[in-house]
This record gives sequence, structure tokens and C-alpha cells, in this order.
Amino acid sequence: MSTPGNDRTAGPSAYPDPVRVLVLVSGTGSNLQALIDAAKDPAYGVAIVAVGADRHDIEGLERARRHDITTFVCRVSDHPDRAAWDRELARQIGAHHPDLVVSAGFMKILGEQVLAGHTVVNTHPALLPAFPGAHAVADALAYGVRVSGCTAHLVDSGVDTGPILAQRAVPVEDGDTEATLHERIKTVERTMLVDVVGRLARHGHTVTDRKVTFS
Ligand code: GRF
Repeated sequence: MSTPGNDRTAGPSAYPDPVRVLVLVSGTGSNLQALIDAAKDPAYGVAIVAVGADRHDIEGLERARRHDITTFVCRVSDHPDRAAWDRELARQIGAHHPDLVVSAGFMKILGEQVLAGHTVVNTHPALLPAFPGAHAVADALAYGVRVSGCTAHLVDSGVDTGPILAQRAVPVEDGDTEATLHERIKTVERTMLVDVVGRLARHGHTVTDRKVTFS
């Protein structure tokens, strides 16, 4: 990790202290589940320290609770404006001292307070820079592409514009609906995200002119 304050010095155990990862979700949380499963292996190098959401009553929060992972909810509608929500979300995230924040199906654009304090990874169901935004799968289908996929990227102040960490291609099949294509993408996306988060945790990264190197 290149995140300040993340001491990767190995202790007496077989593995160095795991990197503290906080995951943000808005829905089903199958990407979160893949990270939880991967983190059971100490060699993966990650501890999921908390799961945050922008809404109640979602499967993603239930998955976390089933694994005794601390959860919190920070809703935009509970705050006077977006800036206040951003401040409160940054405070709640910061309380868990994560080395890395993973936006795994979190359907809100993160604000400057969150981004100022944390390295954030997002996973997106399209091959960026094609089809950014909240309707990526539907937009790719409507455009008629024959290949789509998924992208893991660092989050910056734009919408799905940050430096790319990894991409995987997924074919579009005749007769695909948004649901069938999204499921095919998500199968690949989960593996990609687990791989990327593990590499960030174990190796760290540097960014030069948008090019990411796992060091
Ligand atoms: C993923 O495809 C993610 O890229 C998108 O929403 C989906 C979340 O799936 N933003 P899940 O909640 O992890 O199952």
C-alpha cells in the first residue's frame, strides 16, 4: 500500500498485519461476499474491518452481520445536504481506521471529505472509459457492443474517471437482457475485485500519469 500510515513491517506471525479494508455497499453485496471469503485466508493479507451502506435493509448489510463484521448506515436523506452527508460518511469511515476503502456496488458518488482521507477503489460493470455512470450495463446493451466487462479503478472526484487498476472483458450474447449480462459480468467482476484488493494489500501501488503499478 502507498497509503500513508500503513506500516507493512512483518510481525512475529507468519503473515504481516492484514491491511484494514472497509467496504461500502448499496445492494446485494455479492462482491462484498467474495472479499469476505477471500479474507478468511491469512495469506490474502486483508481484514474487512467494517461495512457501510447508504440505505437500510439490504442483503449486503446482512452478509456482513452474518460474519460478525461491524456495519453502519449513512443516508443522504438524514442530512441537510450532500456536503453534510459527505462529512458524516467520512467521519464514520475514519472511525474504523481503514487503510483502503472499497466501493463495491455503492450507488452514491463519494464526496471530497471521504476522498481526501482515503484511498478508494471502485468496481464498475463496464470497460471504462466506455459507459460510466449508474446504468452502465443497460447503456452498453443499448449501444449494441459485442464485448463489455468490468473495471476496477481508483476513485477520484469524477464519475468513474480514476486510474484503472484492472479490467476484464465479458462477451455480450444474443438475447441478453440487462439482468443476464449483468450477472455474467458480476461473475468475472468478483474475481477481478478479489485479485485487485489482494494485490493492493500485499504489494502496494504507485500511480504515474494515470498508470498504476503494483509495487
Ligand atoms: C456490481 O456490478 C457493481 O459494479 C455495480 O453494482 C453491482 C453490485 O453487485 N455498481 P453486488 O451488490 O456486489 O452483488
